[in-house]
Amino acid sequence: MNSKHPIHTTLSTDAMRILERYEIELGSKNTVLERALMGMDKLRFKEKVDTQSINRIIKRVNTGVPGVDGLIEGGIPEGFVTIVTGSPGTGKTTFSLQFLMEGIRNNERCIFFSFEEMTEQLIKQTIRFGWNIGEYIDKGYLEIFGFSRFSTEEIIEIIDIFKPKRIVFDSLNIFSDVSDFRRSPQWRNILKEIKEKKITCLAITEKKTGRSAGEFDEFDFMGDGIILFDKKQKNELDTYPTSNIKIQKMRLTKVNEMPHPFIIKDHGIEIIGNRGIERKISGNILPASKNKPYFVANIDRELRISLNSIIGFSELMKIKTPGDLNEKQERYMHNVLTSGKHLLDLIQQKS
Ligand SMILES: Nc1ncnc2c1ncn2[C@@H]1O[C@H](COP(=O)(O)OP(=O)(O)O)[C@@H](O)[C@H]1O
Ligand SMILES: [Mg+2]
Repeated sequence: MNSKHPIHTTLSTDAMRILERYEIELGSKNTVLERALMGMDKLRFKEKVDTQSINRIIKRVNTGVPGVDGLIEGGIPEGFVTIVTGSPGTGKTTFSLQFLMEGIRNNERCIFFSFEEMTEQLIKQTIRFGWNIGEYIDKGYLEIFGFSRFSTEEIIEIIDIFKPKRIVFDSLNIFSDVSDFRRSPQWRNILKEIKEKKITCLAITEKKTGRSAGEFDEFDFMGDGIILFDKKQKNELDTYPTSNIKIQKMRLTKVNEMPHPFIIKDHGIEIIGNRGIERKISGNILPASKNKPYFVANIDRELRISLNSIIGFSELMKIKTPGDLNEKQERYMHNVLTSGKHLLDLIQQKS
């Protein structure tokens, strides 16, 4: 059986433009014209594709953040608008700057539109990470517009002239009200420009501190992808909150949806990999052992057995199988349960 099927999609951008112009002039949709254009349209995507070749057609853009591309089949699909969201101070701006630096390393032009920070401050931030930002600006690879007050038309004009491959908007919250953002003509015009030019874009949005990580807002719905930044205290006794990155959505991509702890190092954000976790387990949480390799190799099984027991019994207590708990006991039980699950996640991630 031939698994290849021709794919006929909608009209090309040029044909759409003709149709739209006639629609405006005639005041209604002209289906005869639409059909005629479809027949004539040589630019329609008619390639014969199967599941293997589709993976070659999807061009992926590296994020430049060690550990992240591996969670999304090698990178963000080209031309995607990805929402980078989270509460303040969780690392969104740093991540986005790193994304642009990766573009520059690949000789791509990049633009950073900041609606909240001054250019000077953003430059200082990048210099701290050892990036030679002045040189890239001089050579025309990077434009940073700090405290931007541009109109939609001006933003589109800048994109037209500069021809970037990557853009960051920091943040969309100041740009338009969240409730009608998706429908706002200003944003739709910019989006059209980005999509037509296949620019890969990160759009930062702010979530209120303490807001549950699972809650979505209007911004999230319009993104091709969502990357959530989160800082969590595992329980009331934990003095060092852990920073996490979680891919909540990435169209056309098999996603590793686990939250991944990260740290900000001298060169920027880095996901804590297996070695990091091992170091944490053998160095901090558990007592030092003289025979470390043997200890680490065998610890997995022991931890899994104990954690399953901790999680299982806490769950029973939470649903009050052995009897009622008072409010404080319930809260403590919840902490035991979430900490147990977090540790189990770390172990599973490691194997
Ligand atoms: N050079 C650095 N080294 C270590 N941590 C840093 C560095 N720069 C920023 N940070 C940490 O990152 C946090 C803010 O990151 P940022 O990307 O501006 O967050 P957001 O955009 O989500 O508000 C700071 O509060 C600070 O803790
Ligand atoms: Mg920021």
